[in-house]
Amino acid sequence: MSIPYVKKENGIDTLFVNDEPFIALSGEVHNSSSSSLKYMDEHVWPTLQGLNMNSLVLPIAWETIEPEENHYDFSIVDGLIQQARENNMKLIFLWFGMWKNSTSMYVPKWMKEDPETYFLVKTVSGENIDTISPLCEIAVKKDAAAFRQLMRHIRETDEQENTVIMMQVENEVGVMKTDRDYCDAANKMFNSEIPGKLASALGLTGTWKEAFGRLAEESFMAYCLADAIEKITSAGQEEYPLPCYANCWLKQYPWLPGTYPSGGPVTDVHKIWKVAAPSLFTLAPDIYVPNVPDIMDQYSYDGNVLLVPEVRKDAVAASYCLYAVGKHNAVCFSPFGIEEMTLDPAEVSCPPMEVMISLDIDPSAFDITGSKDYLSAVYDLISEMKPLYYKYRGTGQLQAYVRHNRLDKGALLSFENYDLVVSYARQQDAKPPAAGLVYELEQNKFLLISMNSTFTFKPKFGENVSVGVLCLEEGTLKNGEWISDRILNGDEKMTIHSGDIVSCLLVELYKY
Ligand code: DGJ
Repeated sequence: MSIPYVKKENGIDTLFVNDEPFIALSGEVHNSSSSSLKYMDEHVWPTLQGLNMNSLVLPIAWETIEPEENHYDFSIVDGLIQQARENNMKLIFLWFGMWKNSTSMYVPKWMKEDPETYFLVKTVSGENIDTISPLCEIAVKKDAAAFRQLMRHIRETDEQENTVIMMQVENEVGVMKTDRDYCDAANKMFNSEIPGKLASALGLTGTWKEAFGRLAEESFMAYCLADAIEKITSAGQEEYPLPCYANCWLKQYPWLPGTYPSGGPVTDVHKIWKVAAPSLFTLAPDIYVPNVPDIMDQYSYDGNVLLVPEVRKDAVAASYCLYAVGKHNAVCFSPFGIEEMTLDPAEVSCPPMEVMISLDIDPSAFDITGSKDYLSAVYDLISEMKPLYYKYRGTGQLQAYVRHNRLDKGALLSFENYDLVVSYARQQDAKPPAAGLVYELEQNKFLLISMNSTFTFKPKFGENVSVGVLCLEEGTLKNGEWISDRILNGDEKMTIHSGDIVSCLLVELYKY
């Protein structure tokens, strides 16, 4: 059995686990949950019951596994792997190494206490910030050594079972409060020619300013960070080549590098990241903004498969999951703070407002009213539709849509024999927006998997005929097979529509 890998299948980047295509229907735990096996046992694993997840995303902190320099303790890693196996789940580990949300808060104490050796990023005025400089070669080497040990340990304990399926390297890197690092080493490099591999890959020459103009500072930071992450990732992959990716704090208002982490893998600098960090298979967005579908559209392109390691967990998550998989063949979808999803919404405390403001997070992203039922139904359906999905994805016989924003009224989908008008239900608070997948199973037969949508089939342009519904059934899928629950006719056939919980309809049409 191979270890997990990412490979193109019918032209689509696909994650394979145990040599089978795998979509991580996941959730990410809060930052501190996985620092304690007892806490995980009491407050995390039991709360995930019923969510139909197949994997969990959780941090491994450098300070925990290398508390003393060169002395590693992997007991937490072993315990988490054991717990995951007992709960029949796969794991995606987040390596909280040198950088977490731009700062160096997870590095071991022995490093924090030695800022002379492990020097920090400086702002333009010479102020040190709490972020170790990516130009600090010795720090990068230490991080790479620790990540190497971690990967070696995972190989030794997990190579046969494949419980750990992917690794995120660092977390939301970049520098805040400054557009770039102004330490001596950084200034020297910034005023030199851009690296040869960047020059040849991008067809640019000269210093950073000459090559990148207004984007010079952010481009420079992107290169320095991606280069450091490449060293860390490749060291780990030499031991155990699991698929690795980096995640991103999005570019947001007021759009100035340093108000969001400058140099992180925002789309503006993807080309630089791709050249400097080829060991990463994708660059993944963390999405708390209201326009989640736009972000998923932007981060999904040939050469960058969609992976959503963090996303808002309000009711909209269910619709966006359907779209992520149906439209973009996402390899992972994972709302943040998943251990709260099954709690009573009144019990869930939002992070303090200062935290929300400093992380630039929309507070409604944490309102879980209704989320559990909507999301678990979507996760279940995606698991059960897999044989159909793998048969039809990448062809015109599977099409997906989602309501992108409040002005979005519907979609017009074109199939061989029919056009399909999808009208979106009005958006209500704490309800999932319209979303769906349409499978053209035969020329006259369609499977509709959807929420809050109304469907009207039309003849093709220029055809002087009407379209009638021969048969309409509601039902479910079991391992790709249709199971009919009810035949809909009379009043129930006057419109074809779906509600808040994802549902399956099978429609047979005729023309007259
Ligand atoms: C994004 C970070 O990547 C997460 O670790 C967490 O801090 C969330 N923001 C907000 O709670």
